[in-house]
Amino acid sequence: MWADPRDKGGMPPILPLDDQSIAIAVDHIRAGRLVAFPTETVYGLGGDATNGEAVAAIFEAKGRPRFNPLIVHVPDMIAARGVGKFDKRAEELASRFWPGPLTLVVKRMVDSGVSELASAGLDTVAIRMPALRGARTFLAEVGRPLAAPSANRSGKVSPTTAQHVAQELGDAVALILDGGPCKVGVESTVLDMSGETPVLLRPGGVPLEELEEALGRKIEVAGADTAIASPGMLESHYAPALPLRMDAREAKAGEALLGFGPVSNATLNLSETGNLREAAANLFAMLRDLDSSDFTAIAVMPIPENGLGRAINDRLRRAAAPRG
Ligand code: TXA
Ligand code: MG
Repeated sequence: MWADPRDKGGMPPILPLDDQSIAIAVDHIRAGRLVAFPTETVYGLGGDATNGEAVAAIFEAKGRPRFNPLIVHVPDMIAARGVGKFDKRAEELASRFWPGPLTLVVKRMVDSGVSELASAGLDTVAIRMPALRGARTFLAEVGRPLAAPSANRSGKVSPTTAQHVAQELGDAVALILDGGPCKVGVESTVLDMSGETPVLLRPGGVPLEELEEALGRKIEVAGADTAIASPGMLESHYAPALPLRMDAREAKAGEALLGFGPVSNATLNLSETGNLREAAANLFAMLRDLDSSDFTAIAVMPIPENGLGRAINDRLRRAAAPRG
């Protein structure tokens, strides 16, 4: 029987990427566990993008104090179209550069099943089809889109070997698939195709010039011009339209109460058992539900400021901040 290596503080198995190890990895992913896997760019920390708690576990493992949107990985174009809306330009870029080190940000498909946490509550989603064949085999066998940031702790460099992953995140993953050193060695280029004009959000494996040539136009670069939102600014885009206050014990007249822990007076409860992973998984969907309700404001009960609670509170604080 499989034992969770984290229980013993031990190291997860590192297995060469082949049909056998992929079959084991698929079982882990379907059970909501995390698996590190190689791509041509860097190693990814993969979890089922349709399972909010698996996505929350990714943020927990990375130790990031914020929910930034993650890249959703797919094996083929059919899967990609199930996750995001591809207009003609996006289809053309995909057919030219996929599989490969390009990530396209497009509008989310409404029924994609991808957890709102994976795209941090945005109405867009970042999608990538990796070039490494074994990675695509793994994705095809899983049969679900995989959320996968680089498999390093927050603030550390991205891993390009299985050993790097083991050193950084060994205690957080059930298995490390070893595909040898990554050929590209830098992350994918992130191109936002969700608006009128294409915007480069992150330089990476595909050069900007090649994208400009394919599109037949100049591409704006985020951050180079103050008029264009940087990825960091995009992250904070989503906030409920209703006013929000934190550290509430009860609702005032007209307010919805978003609960945490065993309480009976909550309109919705992020986690009745006080589980931060469950709360993170529910956060964006519940804010959205309350936002489209008849209430006039949202009051949120206190969330402890540790582990995933930091990222939850970060998002709530920004939603509660006065708006201009
Ligand atoms: O090479 C790679 O892309 C690696 C391998 C594992 O595939 N993955 C990776 O994922 O670097 P991640 O999640 O660490 O990269 C996320 C990047 C961030 O810059 C984030 O801001 C941007 O993609 N991003 C994701 N979703 C977005 C969205 N909806 N809108 C704007 N930017 C988004
Ligand atoms: Mg990274």
